[in-house]
Amino acid sequence: MGTPAFNLHAFRAAQRAAPLSDFARELHAGLSLETRSISPKFFYDVEGSALFDRICELPEYYPTRTELRILTESAEEIAGQIGPDAEIIEFGAGSLTKVRLLLDALEAPRRYVPIDISGEHLEAAAARLRTDYPRLAVQPVVADYTMPLVLPPAREKGAGQRVGFFPGSTLGNFTPNEALAFLQLAQRLLRGGGLLIGVDLVKDPALLHAAYNDAEGVTAAFNLNLLRRANRELGCDFDLDGFTHAAFYNSPQRRIEMHLVSRRPQTVTLDGQAFDFAEGETLHTENSHKFTIDSLRSLALKAGFRPGAVWTDPDRLFSVHWLQAPAAQ
Ligand code: AVJ
Repeated sequence: MGTPAFNLHAFRAAQRAAPLSDFARELHAGLSLETRSISPKFFYDVEGSALFDRICELPEYYPTRTELRILTESAEEIAGQIGPDAEIIEFGAGSLTKVRLLLDALEAPRRYVPIDISGEHLEAAAARLRTDYPRLAVQPVVADYTMPLVLPPAREKGAGQRVGFFPGSTLGNFTPNEALAFLQLAQRLLRGGGLLIGVDLVKDPALLHAAYNDAEGVTAAFNLNLLRRANRELGCDFDLDGFTHAAFYNSPQRRIEMHLVSRRPQTVTLDGQAFDFAEGETLHTENSHKFTIDSLRSLALKAGFRPGAVWTDPDRLFSVHWLQAPAAQ
């Protein structure tokens, strides 16, 4: 038999199906654990992404607007670090406004490679950027950036630095070990360039608590949407009124934890398998680790970066770091 023809239709179908079966597999595994948990990456279906956009506008949720302010006010200095003809690799693609600030400040950026597990989100974002930046090569990659990944072919001659962009304190979603592993992966990918990363800072727990327990209940809806998504996509039978949103600051671990708490004894099914919840039992849906400037810099150093400039706001709520990735010796 000869080489089978490349089947574009099957390829696209497989790409679409991949995140869905990941969700089924990881939810099944997470529900089977002694302490139930699921990765927060599954929050971001179409509905979840829209809810997250609303969170970013909430008066209590300071991270987004603070980071935008830092990026705006430090744009020139950041552009100076990066230099001309750069290629930007964004881990996740939920932050078009942020990358625009960066692109507008840079001198002749060449290429923009957003990496995201959601293909729909990516294509829409890419199309809008292509219209507004006709000289920029926009090359989205559908992938899970916590796994080793293959990027579009090596940069062309005369290209500038390869710069990773990881805003929004998404690093805080990882455990300390995962964060280190991610930074090591990024450091290898970005050798000779650097990583521009935004992380939320340790602060008064009352401010943190408010940011994840907003008065309008948008964060609660965002959390509960995970169960809604499981019902929609996986045919689960979660009773949305049977679970309640809980978010609190775990200060020894320096993280906000979000949980979905069962309000009564109940049974849910996934793929024909029953999972019992006792009253008060939780599904842990997210960790959002907070950093100090020093804790982020020492983690970066451990991962092989050379920590460089740091930009922050006057109240020191949030920080943006330039981490240089040394060229291979
Ligand atoms: C996008 C992961 C940084 O942890 O603050 C917002 C997500 N969760 N409100 C965060 C989130 C609840 C957000 N990150």
